[in-house]
Amino acid sequence: MSEPNSHNSSAARLIITLSSDSSLYYAVLAVLVVTYSLIRTLSIAFKPGLSSIPGPVFAKFSSLYRPWKLANGDAPQFYRELHRRYGKIVRTGPKTVDISDPSAVATIYGINTKFLKSAFYDTFSPFYQETVMPSMFSIRDPAQHRALRRPVAQKFSMSSIRAMEPFADECTDIFLDSMRKMEGQVVDLGDWLQWYAFDVIGAITFQRRFGFMEKQEDVPTVHKWLMGNKWVAKLLAAQPFVKIPDPLRTIVKYTQECMDEYDSRPALEHSDRPDFLAWLRGEAAKGKPMSERDLVNHLSNNLLAGSDTTGISLRAIVYFLVKNPRAYKKLQAEVDAANRTGKLSHYVSYAECLELPYPQAVMKEAMRCHPGVSYPLERIVPDTGVKLCGVQLEGGTIVSVNAAVIHHDKSIFGEDAALFRPERWTESDEERVKFMDRHLMTFGYGSRTCIGKNISIMEMGKLIPQLVRDFDIEWASERPEWRVKTFWFAKQYGLICRLRSRKEKK
Ligand code: HEM
Ligand SMILES: *[C@@H]1O[C@H](CO)[C@@H](O)[C@H](O)[C@H]1NC(C)=O
Ligand SMILES: *[C@@H]1O[C@H](CO)[C@@H](O)[C@H](O)[C@H]1NC(C)=O
Repeated sequence: MSEPNSHNSSAARLIITLSSDSSLYYAVLAVLVVTYSLIRTLSIAFKPGLSSIPGPVFAKFSSLYRPWKLANGDAPQFYRELHRRYGKIVRTGPKTVDISDPSAVATIYGINTKFLKSAFYDTFSPFYQETVMPSMFSIRDPAQHRALRRPVAQKFSMSSIRAMEPFADECTDIFLDSMRKMEGQVVDLGDWLQWYAFDVIGAITFQRRFGFMEKQEDVPTVHKWLMGNKWVAKLLAAQPFVKIPDPLRTIVKYTQECMDEYDSRPALEHSDRPDFLAWLRGEAAKGKPMSERDLVNHLSNNLLAGSDTTGISLRAIVYFLVKNPRAYKKLQAEVDAANRTGKLSHYVSYAECLELPYPQAVMKEAMRCHPGVSYPLERIVPDTGVKLCGVQLEGGTIVSVNAAVIHHDKSIFGEDAALFRPERWTESDEERVKFMDRHLMTFGYGSRTCIGKNISIMEMGKLIPQLVRDFDIEWASERPEWRVKTFWFAKQYGLICRLRSRKEKK
């Protein structure tokens, strides 16, 4: 090592002097860091534009305000209360704004929007071979998003979905048989609907049911600590003390097992299989090759995006029916009438269920009242800036709308917006229905809307008529209500019911 340079600048000399007394050095450093962050925090907090937006005081200063408030799982109530108190536009963080304004929805999320997904979505990307693998859902760059979406879009079309119906039917048999066996008992129907949804999506994706219904076991779910927090996720994964199940990893691993099994069988066995795996392998054989990584990506994303969401929505439908006997009877009467006139097959088909106006309205209304994703869908304001709710927001600001808030907007859904009333879809005039439809965010909105919407409508639209055709269901919990914990997904607990077979009764 060379001798210290004798021509030190005065700054360097100061540091050397200070470091000879290390406690003074650290004190000065600490003061500098604190002063800098204070100035930065204050300058962001009181930035023109942002500072005119109402909101809780702490939110101006710290991005920890939201995680702190959301840690108890009450996101829908928290956001509704904020908007009740502060109005259509609320500052929820130093550079974060939540909006509940019908006219903002299309601006932020519309088809050709320049508002891209925020860094919040990075948490949803699983790892593949130790590198981050953004999914069609979590990827933020529009060009990369298009590249991922284009080769699979056809698999989500109506004709492809029709070919997948037998997968749902096979699960329906297992589900209804189990219900018959448990007839008269007190059942956690929430568990069963979740198992059903996982088994159907497993079959659609790999032609392999998970067997959750047969085994009656827990499904992998996203832990709340991991929600929106990639650093926590990394820390938890790195430490050896508590084992937090990592569903992202579990599901990617499972996907690879299914692919290995597929490849170990002779190609002839797979001919004409309509599941995603066989279809993608078939496309590759036809000269549209896809990397192994993209394949794993699409298949695992089916499970991540299409299982919990459908399970939660099925629970919501059953809950609102059981809690609203009038709606239950009306739905059942419509199903019975259709069954009598030969309009329903043994397995109610997708095409048949779409012709049942009231059951379709019940489904839509249950998901309006209880959107499976009840968190703000964060987007970044593009460089050009934007004026929303009369406020000019500069590029880089995070803006979001939460389905759980906008679905309660009386200017869209009427004075009774908070109530479950399927008739709002069947009895309102056409203009009103279109208007409500344009502000329904159950499946997201616009350019990043859910590609699996019709798959889930197929699953749920078929199951519900079959369930009420055979059974009467009643609330059997000692508690008056279910419990809901929202960490991105609005997950319900305690949908305890009793089923009675209708054929037995007469
Ligand atoms: C009732 C069931 C479902 C609900 C409530 C639901 C909800 C959503 C929502 C809210 C988004 C957009 C989120 C955002 O803007 O950040 C989304 C996106 C997505 N969903 Fe669904 N989903 C459901 C079922 C499914 C199914 C069954 C699949 C696949 C088989 C699926 C695959 C996807 C994918 C791939 C995306 C990303 C689309 C893109 O960005 O291009 N979803 N879903
Ligand atoms: C989903 O189904 C509706 C009819 O129920 C149809 O109008 C729409 O085009 C379908 N979407 C896709 C992506 O196929
Ligand atoms: C539905 O119709 C079939 C005949 O198409 C009949 O066997 C069955 O009992 C009917 N179910 C109900 C609940 O009415």
